[in-house]
Amino acid sequence: MIRIAVLASGSGTNLGALLDACAGGQIDGRVEVVLSNMPGAGALERARAAGAATEVVPSKGVQRESHDAEVLARLSRHTPDLVCLAGYMRLLTPRFVSAYGPTSSTRGCPRIMNIHPALLPSFPGLHAQRQALAYGARFSGCTVHFVDEGTDSGAIIVQAVVPVLESDTEEALAARILSEEHRIYPRAVQWFAQGRLALEGRRVTVRGSRPPEPVALRSPWDE
Ligand code: GAR
Repeated sequence: MIRIAVLASGSGTNLGALLDACAGGQIDGRVEVVLSNMPGAGALERARAAGAATEVVPSKGVQRESHDAEVLARLSRHTPDLVCLAGYMRLLTPRFVSAYGPTSSTRGCPRIMNIHPALLPSFPGLHAQRQALAYGARFSGCTVHFVDEGTDSGAIIVQAVVPVLESDTEEALAARILSEEHRIYPRAVQWFAQGRLALEGRRVTVRGSRPPEPVALRSPWDE
């Protein structure tokens, strides 16, 4: 059973998916603590309802280094094996990233993951769904990746693809992506819990998984 810390700034539906997967036995782990930089975040309510500890470290007007130092101190009380960013709208400082980096344990891979609502390396940063629509992409999706010092630039663990429809609004596309987020984030966390993730350079291997059929995904309108 791994000890999981979740960092969230928003409503926390990804946190909800992780909590459900822990409760349902799809993740061999427990969410020990949920930390937010936003005192009113819905994620904190979900955490309380599930019996997880909560920590609030407001970020408004606080220098990035001192904020992250406080977050690190609060997290360390809960001795997490894995830190999951789930809608945590902050770029982590190098000190934070290295505290949970590949050399911080014997697992040989970082101990921080993030979920991003686009097919990285396309559309990193804010408003990823809006970026995909404005660009005219035929597909978008979501990515679970290890966290490094850049913006959504760490090694990719798993992705899911959804079509972008002509009729899509930003909200409709976000909802289609979100339901895939809720499916792939728990899977990535379970692979970590099972010790199946290996990192070599930028390439992540999921030990013991079958290679998929190399089928092409066809664009909408491509009959
Ligand atoms: C999710 O779509 C997540 O991928 C995104 O914020 C949303 C949080 O929703 N994260 C980012 O954009 C990070 N760059 P949630 O609070 O309902 O899980």
